[in-house]
Amino acid sequence: QGKARADIGLIGLAVMGENLVLNMESKGFTVAVFNRTVSKVDEFTSGRGAGKNIIGTHSVEELVATLKRPRKVMMMVKAGQAVDETIEHLVPLLEPGDIIIDGGNSNYQDTMRRTAYVESKGLRYVGSGVSGGEEGALTGPSLMPGGSSTAWPEIRPIFQAIAAKVEGKVPCCDWVGENGAGHFVKMVHNGIEYGDMQLISETYWLMKHYVGLSYEEMAQVFDEWNRSELDSYLIEITRDILRYKDSDGSPLVEKILDAAGQKGTGKWTGIAALEFGVPLTLIAEAVFARCLSSEKDERVRSSQLFARPELPKTPLTGNERITFIEDLKQALYASKIVSYAQGYLLMREAAKAYGWNLNYGGIALMWRGGCIIRSVFLGKIKEAFDRNPDLENLLQDPFFRSVVDKAQGSWRRVAMTALQYGLPIPALTSALTYFDGYRSETLPANLLQAQRDYFGAHTYERTDRPRGEFFHTNWTGRG
Ligand code: NAP
Ligand code: ATR
Repeated sequence: QGKARADIGLIGLAVMGENLVLNMESKGFTVAVFNRTVSKVDEFTSGRGAGKNIIGTHSVEELVATLKRPRKVMMMVKAGQAVDETIEHLVPLLEPGDIIIDGGNSNYQDTMRRTAYVESKGLRYVGSGVSGGEEGALTGPSLMPGGSSTAWPEIRPIFQAIAAKVEGKVPCCDWVGENGAGHFVKMVHNGIEYGDMQLISETYWLMKHYVGLSYEEMAQVFDEWNRSELDSYLIEITRDILRYKDSDGSPLVEKILDAAGQKGTGKWTGIAALEFGVPLTLIAEAVFARCLSSEKDERVRSSQLFARPELPKTPLTGNERITFIEDLKQALYASKIVSYAQGYLLMREAAKAYGWNLNYGGIALMWRGGCIIRSVFLGKIKEAFDRNPDLENLLQDPFFRSVVDKAQGSWRRVAMTALQYGLPIPALTSALTYFDGYRSETLPANLLQAQRDYFGAHTYERTDRPRGEFFHTNWTGRG
């Protein structure tokens, strides 16, 4: 293996790829690199990568030839067809036991298909969620690898070395499970990110329009929250965003068009929830809220068509203000718990369907640092699964149960206020509605079953008979 001296190869020198390479190299690994547009290889090795243990190569063949066995090649290329094309390039050049890793935002179903395909060629495949954006890739991302399980011991030293660390030592990276499990968990992470962002935005909206806080006052509230159980990256950046001034000295966020974009991972999470029959209501609402926001022109037109409730004319003051801000905090916290509970339910259903043995506490730990949803709260989720690895629903954990119970009054006051004043808070209210359904022994589905039986003879079960016995009624008496 004269020339084979690189610990890992990386294909795709865009933002994420470059930063991951520099991270790996800084941890003592020798990295060989390749990029489709070959000039970027030389730009990188003579630029940010100069003077480091980084080997620039000008073909996939050359890249493969520089790798120690079993070879490990990580792709950081655009999700979709580029991944399939790169795999096709690699497969004939690799030997049994070699490992192809996809660190892009691939759809988990693609990863399942690719794992089966690559394994059928005698090779091993890893689909890894990588979160933390550009900065995370460089300084410590959250990594969620899944795929061919025997590949884990081979890639573990590199992955855990480059991952973010909690409390300076615990890596935010562990083996997630077979085939598409890593990318599935990354997808749920992104869905949760959509939910967290929407919840924070809704509390901002009430602070602004109902409480009547200034931008600096709102920043102060988020700053306080960031020193409480809500301590998290997204709360922290919200504080900073609210303080940020445009060149004319006014808050920049005021001038940003209220039309949200999306690249699709939230949508995938919603689709998976519908497929698995999991009530992932909060994340779905967060996706729909982005959709509604993006219809800006139509909203501007329709804003002229309807009467709207009048908002308070003056800011809340004194106790009323303090109490409502505390209510908002409690409502946000309780809704966040519901969102994570729903996300975990989705992972549980997928694990059942695909035979993945997911480590739920381990997943919380992977998200605890490095990624966009990193928070102190995730440590509490880890503790909940340590207490009971078979926890049915996070809401049943004694800690979360008591938090939500305590928050109920505040949560309802926030929801009622928003509804009364016509301020849309779909995520906060759908979380409360889910909670009320979840804690209800009875629901109106008895009537629904009767309707189904009436028009479609779909049959129903009876409360006074054992489950599994089905009845049909001739509701109209006609024959
Ligand atoms: P990107 O814009 O998604 O992809 C650009 C890279 O893909 C370039 O190296 C490009 O090569 C290569 N590429 C595109 N089509 C190709 C093809 N048909 N064959 C071979 N290579 C091809 O780059 P990125 O933003 O660094 O993201 C990489 C992956 O990480 C994506 O899946 C992305 O979703 C995921 N991700 C991104 C972030 C983020 O914050 N940006 C965070 C986590 C994960 P050329 O130079 O030749 O065009
Ligand atoms: P992270 O886990 O660090 O959030 P990410 O999932 O790649 O990383 O998302 C980071 C940003 O890149 C998000 O703004 C995301 O857009 P959405 O919020 O609309 O999902 C964006 N992003 C994700 N996948 C992308 C892709 N394939 N192409 C371009 N942007 C993408």
